[in-house]
Amino acid sequence: MTDLPTFSARLLAWFDEHGRKTLPWQQDRTPYRVWVSEIMLQQTQVATVIPYYERFMARFPEVTDLASAPIDDVLSLWTGLGYYARARNLHKTASLVVEKFSGEFPDSVEGLESLPGIGRSTAGAILTLGHGGWAPILDGNVKRVLARYHAIEGWPGRSDVLAALWKASEAVTPRERTADYTQGIMDLGATLCTKSKPECLFCPMTEDCQARISGAQSAYPGKKPKKKTPTRETYFIICIDSQGQLLLERRPPSGIWGGLWSFPEASNLEACTNNSSDKHPNTDTGAVEEPDSIDAVSVTSWLNEQGLVAVQPWTVLPSVSHTFSHFRLEITPVTCVVQNNVSRIADSEGQGWFTIARSLTLGLPAPVVRILQSLEA
Ligand code: ADE
Repeated sequence: MTDLPTFSARLLAWFDEHGRKTLPWQQDRTPYRVWVSEIMLQQTQVATVIPYYERFMARFPEVTDLASAPIDDVLSLWTGLGYYARARNLHKTASLVVEKFSGEFPDSVEGLESLPGIGRSTAGAILTLGHGGWAPILDGNVKRVLARYHAIEGWPGRSDVLAALWKASEAVTPRERTADYTQGIMDLGATLCTKSKPECLFCPMTEDCQARISGAQSAYPGKKPKKKTPTRETYFIICIDSQGQLLLERRPPSGIWGGLWSFPEASNLEACTNNSSDKHPNTDTGAVEEPDSIDAVSVTSWLNEQGLVAVQPWTVLPSVSHTFSHFRLEITPVTCVVQNNVSRIADSEGQGWFTIARSLTLGLPAPVVRILQSLEA
């Protein structure tokens, strides 16, 4: 490979030619003006921010104007920008700067970070753009540029990935022209190194960008891992009388399957699991071991509570699972042949004995239909 200029040299040369230099917060730069722009830009696009920024600065030209204004004036100028906590923090910070720092923004990352609404990256931007100091930044655009350039894998919400990105940012941030570099790397991320369809042909880093070389630009930065859907276990107790009728009950009106008919559910039956770990070696993945059998005493006492008497040993059927939006329900059906309908369970509003054919005409949850169909077969 030919000797390439350093990352920051290439970035600065690109900034000189293509970077943004006429944004309102780039004129008459002061820590106050930079701070307001950075807070507005935290969750909002440049084009949207510009008119808000201009109105805000016309009304609050100095930090003292903002500190002494009623919060309602600040909020009214923020209307439409969203994330109103930003406006409230802005107002609080202005008061703190006036009261605790004699109206001057702190000139260290630590000092800036002590103020409401200012994180490490915003502190870095205020320090470099507003004070002319040195500090790395790492906003969303910069994370993407650096993750691609170095092929830093993993989701930046993970602390090790974030630490690697900060280290990379620190390593490339130059001591000279730090403000231009800071603006330039944000501009590169916003205009060329975009989330989708990055324009690598025009990028000054294209020759040694690891993501570009492997054609894996879209893999960086890594996505947030999808949460594993939690699993809840429950048992359906399928009571069968001597005529082959099944006991069903109407579920409460709220909660899952509200108002539908279902088998009585017993989620608190003690499960006797097979504890031999070699059979289920993956317990560290959070997988729940399958119950091999259910405690006979629990089923019997459940039946007793309902006033039912089993006439044969009960049988555990293969589990059925059903996925809801936030969890998976693993249902183990247990069939119990019971003494004829002598219990206190009468055909009442919410409970009844039904043939399979009649059951299938009721409003039923999908797994209950599946279980009924398998019993019918
Ligand atoms: N996003 C965050 N800070 C920015 C800035 N100074 N210029 C453009 N976009 C930005």
